[in-house]
Amino acid sequence: MKGYLFLASFLVYAAWRTTHVINALTRPDLPHEYFGTASGPKDASSQCSVLRGADNKLSYCEDQTFWEFEDAQGHVFDRKVVASCDPNRKNWNTVMGPLSSPDPLGGLWLVEYDRANASAKEMKLVDYPERRDFHPLGVAIWPSKLGSTSNMFVVNHGRHRTTIEQFLLDPADPSSAKFIRTLSSKYFISPNALALTSPSSFFVSNDHFMTRRLPSILGEILPVIETFIGLPLGFISHVSIVNEAMPGAAIIRHTIPKLGISFPNGIALSPDGQTLAVASSSYTRVLFYNRTSNEDGTEKLTYAHAVSVPFAPDNVHYDDTGALLVAGHPYFPGLIAVAENKTTEGSPSWVAELTPRTQGGASVRSFDLDAPFSATQRVKAAASHGLTTLYQSDGSKFSGSTTGLRDTRSGTLFVVGLFEEGLLICRP
Ligand SMILES: *[C@@H]1O[C@H](CO)[C@@H](O)[C@H](O)[C@H]1NC(C)=O
Ligand SMILES: *[C@@H]1O[C@H](CO)[C@@H](O)[C@H](O)[C@H]1NC(C)=O
Ligand SMILES: *[C@@H]1O[C@H](CO)[C@@H](O)[C@H](O)[C@H]1NC(C)=O
Repeated sequence: MKGYLFLASFLVYAAWRTTHVINALTRPDLPHEYFGTASGPKDASSQCSVLRGADNKLSYCEDQTFWEFEDAQGHVFDRKVVASCDPNRKNWNTVMGPLSSPDPLGGLWLVEYDRANASAKEMKLVDYPERRDFHPLGVAIWPSKLGSTSNMFVVNHGRHRTTIEQFLLDPADPSSAKFIRTLSSKYFISPNALALTSPSSFFVSNDHFMTRRLPSILGEILPVIETFIGLPLGFISHVSIVNEAMPGAAIIRHTIPKLGISFPNGIALSPDGQTLAVASSSYTRVLFYNRTSNEDGTEKLTYAHAVSVPFAPDNVHYDDTGALLVAGHPYFPGLIAVAENKTTEGSPSWVAELTPRTQGGASVRSFDLDAPFSATQRVKAAASHGLTTLYQSDGSKFSGSTTGLRDTRSGTLFVVGLFEEGLLICRP
């Protein structure tokens, strides 16, 4: 009897799991390239272009974020993009593997742009310890107010362990990042993405509990099992630096407001600071948590809702209207094939926005109808959020999208890809 019960629950679980996994395990029929906005499709061929850096080193970028410049009233009057890139990712990838060589180092790129032009420059890491690895993943920057300096935090997948590096950025010399210190903790098991809660505190996702860093065969098998069975072993930590005003090694306070998420990848805090969005890659959905900051500085995350997306979501970023940009992989085997040099074709890309529905809002029956391959072919509409496709590619134009960012002043969309050269810019 017990056996049947077990079998029955397993079958229910497997059926439920399959409906999620299928969104990233079958190849969708995507166009070479599509660019859309909430107000309709645009002409990707004339409005999207790829910005390249010197020596093509602005490549294989995992994350990107805005560095914002605010006036006295707190209004953003300018933005630059900072992207975390690692052209050596095919030989050093602590999330997907392999771990064959941590040399050479990755870098950060500063992208300055206006409505017509954009340029990219590799950032100089000033005072960064010599012979120290630098393999940047999640990056987050506190805004500059009236020309003040900004703290920047970067997840760094070093050869022995993962740390979080703190830098100082100065608008007077924007392409230099002054190294301040390294944050480390025994709880930094697999840090991936960051969401700042103050100039010196942040949430950090830990994507797996069983990581590639485990010895030999264990490191090859266990993380894959964790990903594909969807074991909820990832977690969200909150870190604050206690001695921020003092130099020297950081003393950090580390708490774990949320345990038990399957492959939590990107995370983002809403503009009002009330909601934390978490991309769960192995369940192809985005989880939303209500955030409460307690008097004693600890953080509480309360599950609010989940929104299924038509791809394995990678990074998430809010724009300043409260729309969440989600980028990811609609065909995960394609990404693995690219990582292993098993194909010369790119891996499909998909970027969408999730917009909170206002009560009694739009019809939830039909949505995303402009996209050549509509999200409706893979997911049902969520009660809490609308979904609109912003960018799609079968991989031939832009491969392996990991992060989308949008500057709402002009609607400009920025996309980076895990094994792609350059940074995509689409202007509506
Ligand atoms: C873009 O760059 C070109 C050439 O450098 C320059 O002539 C033009 O004024 C720039 N446009 C804007 C909007 O800055
Ligand atoms: C989350 O916050 C929203 C807005 O304040 C509220 O309506 C909702 O009930 C909250 N959900 C939970 C589970 O606390
Ligand atoms: C794939 O090709 C790159 C060079 O483009 C090389 O560095 C890497 O080691 C190759 N990976 C495999 C698994 O062969």
